[in-house]
Amino acid sequence: MSDHKRIPMLDLVAQHAEIEEELLDGFAEVLASGRFVLGSQVETFETELAKLCDARQAVSCNSGTDALWLALRALGIGVGDAVLCPAYSFFATAATIARVGATPIFVDIDPLTLNMDPEDAIRRAESIPNLRAVMTADLFGQICELGPLEAYCAEHNLPIIEDAAQSIGAIDLGGKPVGERAHVACFSFYPTKNLGALGDAGGLVTGDSALSERIAKLRIHGEDEPGLYHELGVNSRMDALQAVALSIKLRHLERWTRARRERALHYDALFASRGAVSGDASLSDGNLSLRTSPPLPEPGRHTYHRYIVRVPKDKRAALIAALDQQGIASEIYYPRGLHQQPALADFAPREGLPQTERATCETLALPLYPELEFDDIERVVDTISETLKIL
Ligand SMILES: Cc1ncc(COP(=O)(O)O)c(C=O)c1O
Repeated sequence: MSDHKRIPMLDLVAQHAEIEEELLDGFAEVLASGRFVLGSQVETFETELAKLCDARQAVSCNSGTDALWLALRALGIGVGDAVLCPAYSFFATAATIARVGATPIFVDIDPLTLNMDPEDAIRRAESIPNLRAVMTADLFGQICELGPLEAYCAEHNLPIIEDAAQSIGAIDLGGKPVGERAHVACFSFYPTKNLGALGDAGGLVTGDSALSERIAKLRIHGEDEPGLYHELGVNSRMDALQAVALSIKLRHLERWTRARRERALHYDALFASRGAVSGDASLSDGNLSLRTSPPLPEPGRHTYHRYIVRVPKDKRAALIAALDQQGIASEIYYPRGLHQQPALADFAPREGLPQTERATCETLALPLYPELEFDDIERVVDTISETLKIL
């Protein structure tokens, strides 16, 4: 181990130190109110979330996973239905589809954005008579562009559920904020997210008021009126303490997002100066050892929940070890496609998903957070350059 200070993936202690007074004042108000589950602070946060997404309605809940489950149930999706979703994402994206009793139909990804490939989605949709919805995921802070899939969904009356767990504050290539294009968008406020609570929390936004009413009901066991239940819901209420923390952090989100973007661009520039390539260059050609993501043209905005590079699969383990030796954290998102998860094996397509499988072997997330020092970025890039000999 080197004598250098450790560079973690994220530094929540530093983030909270900066806003500690605001948080403590907010918590004191909750204590004085005596109301800890739902209530006025939760409603305030819901209003703020809806505003951020240009949406009419927002409903909070207990996690991003619950948000996805609530969206599916509120849309009436269940046994006998099929839902398209990307094979490259966090487990919850597909697990919630299976958990409502529906079949996740895995779609391959675009190798540049790592998001669902809309052309592949349409190809698969053509042969699924019981298709009821499309779930997209905005990985690492970049909105999944729908391209021709948007018109296809409109023509076939398929609601789009946007797994926006990683993309709060992002803008798509058409200039629309996260959550605006989808029928319903689902957020996670898990502590490590760009907008993170101090525990589990989640939320949904939609422009459909009937849908939002149904979601709000389902998150309190499906209660129609006090003591009366026509269907089974779940207990997924947001705590007032989490809502207060989220409202306070929301005031800082824009500044934090800008700080993340500046640091991501610094990584990009340093890697480019060492000969790394961005765009669609193949890692298997020639001596290319590292590829960065192509920058997103305006008005699009990537919020860099994670900064991802691609390296040849036979060099990734050695690179992780070399970084660790220097006290630098790195992480693989995701080591398996969702179709390769044992719990979802029943839904795996027989022919495999080549772009997803390749990404699981090549991608690596590097430290990125608003408080990360520029010198530390240089140390990460130096270590990678020396290890991969890309200079
Ligand atoms: C893409 C994606 N979907 C869903 C989730 C689930 O969110 P949560 O952990 O809040 O349940 C996460 C977060 O981990 C995620 O990254």
